[in-house]
Amino acid sequence: MSLKLSVIGAGYLGAVHAACMADLGHEVVAIDTDAAKVASLAAGQPTMYEPGLAEMLARVLPTGRLTFTTDYALAADADIHFICVGTPQRTGENAADTSYVFGSADSLAPHLTKPCLVVGKSTVPVGTAFQLRQRLQAAAPAGAGVRLAWNPEFLREGFAIEDTLTPNRFVYGVDGDTSDADVKLLDECYATPLASGIPRLVVDFSTAELVKISANAFLATKISFINAMSEVCEAAGGDVVRLAEAIGLDDRIGPKFLKAGVGFGGGCLPKDIRAFMARAGELGADQALTFLREVDSINMRRRARMVDLARQQCGGTLRTRRVAVLGAAFKPDSDDIRDSPALDVARAIQADFATVVVHDPKAMDNARRIAPELLYADTPQEAVRGAHVVLHLTEWPEYRALDPAELRGLVERPMIVDGRNALDPVKWQEAGWVYRALGRPF
Ligand code: UGA
Repeated sequence: MSLKLSVIGAGYLGAVHAACMADLGHEVVAIDTDAAKVASLAAGQPTMYEPGLAEMLARVLPTGRLTFTTDYALAADADIHFICVGTPQRTGENAADTSYVFGSADSLAPHLTKPCLVVGKSTVPVGTAFQLRQRLQAAAPAGAGVRLAWNPEFLREGFAIEDTLTPNRFVYGVDGDTSDADVKLLDECYATPLASGIPRLVVDFSTAELVKISANAFLATKISFINAMSEVCEAAGGDVVRLAEAIGLDDRIGPKFLKAGVGFGGGCLPKDIRAFMARAGELGADQALTFLREVDSINMRRRARMVDLARQQCGGTLRTRRVAVLGAAFKPDSDDIRDSPALDVARAIQADFATVVVHDPKAMDNARRIAPELLYADTPQEAVRGAHVVLHLTEWPEYRALDPAELRGLVERPMIVDGRNALDPVKWQEAGWVYRALGRPF
């Protein structure tokens, strides 16, 4: 059955959600206050790089089922309103900034004249859904006819479409009083993916909010765990890549998210663990999450270690050295540079008086904007020309396919530090390179 939906916020989450829902056959109005973003999406041009999104927009826009607008009034007719706005880290604090969530609900409320379901998808501090329900019902002409559910999103950048259409679970946080009708409506919305047997869990508001943030906290912990083992391997002469392989074969541990390297970044994991600690503090449960402080500091130490390794490879000083940085995005298949370990390391090295030349297949424009002090090269070959050391910091497939023998002829000194443990050491060593990595005895 086709539903009328509105999606509030056309950023990463919202643009992908709106396109995917239209692709499922629903009629979708996506609203964003940024007119330039709206115009670009309406013309079929995503404002970020996400594999498959441009193709999906090209498919659904001509059907007329997907509209992008700045006008909240166009949402009035929808059966479900998805709140997909960002919750960034507050400046100078650990807590999440929920002003976009409440602000967008305030803009939407006057248009809610008929019974409808507002569904929060953003990652929020536990307790937000409850407050939002009160605020919407107080401000909307439909009053208590406006219901609320929390349906967290688990998409990964780079796999956003796949994760939206075939997530490994749907979680519905519903309000006790109206829950049956809300569950039924959400089931209609997700009927196609649910038909393929994807598990669906119905829980209360708080649990739904916590599922999302605790899943991200667990993922961050898993990465910091392996990076802590990396530190121990470095001290003891072990090999963290083989260690991860071996512990990952225990299916209680599993092999995923055990990739040691320069650590996690992006717009979610770092800010989410901080916001989670801040919220636990407000709730008087701060002790429960003190370990996340350690997760955060292990993660940040990896960046510092990378700078140290680069310095070591340059003979003890970075001054006047030329350093090539392969990668600027926080992970491959993304042009997102938010809290990117690669860019952070590049900037720290440049601040130590080296000349840093960065290459990234997709994130150069974004990187240039926030780090104009760095040099940028259009190809990896150009980036490494004359370099005293090459740092591999984002594991794009392009970098794995590089020919070390060709690059050997371009650099000043054949030194590479693999910050993602993703290159083949033997291949690089055979081509005459000194290969170093984090947590490995090279
Ligand atoms: C993360 C979660 O994985 C999603 O489930 C969640 O929906 C999303 O946040 C969100 O809250 O919106 P994402 O930030 O796109 O998704 O990226 P991840 O694939 O989780 O990677 C995060 C960082 O961890 C990257 O910098 C990546 O390079 C790093 N990482 C990942 C490692 O260092 N080692 C690993 O083994 C895995």
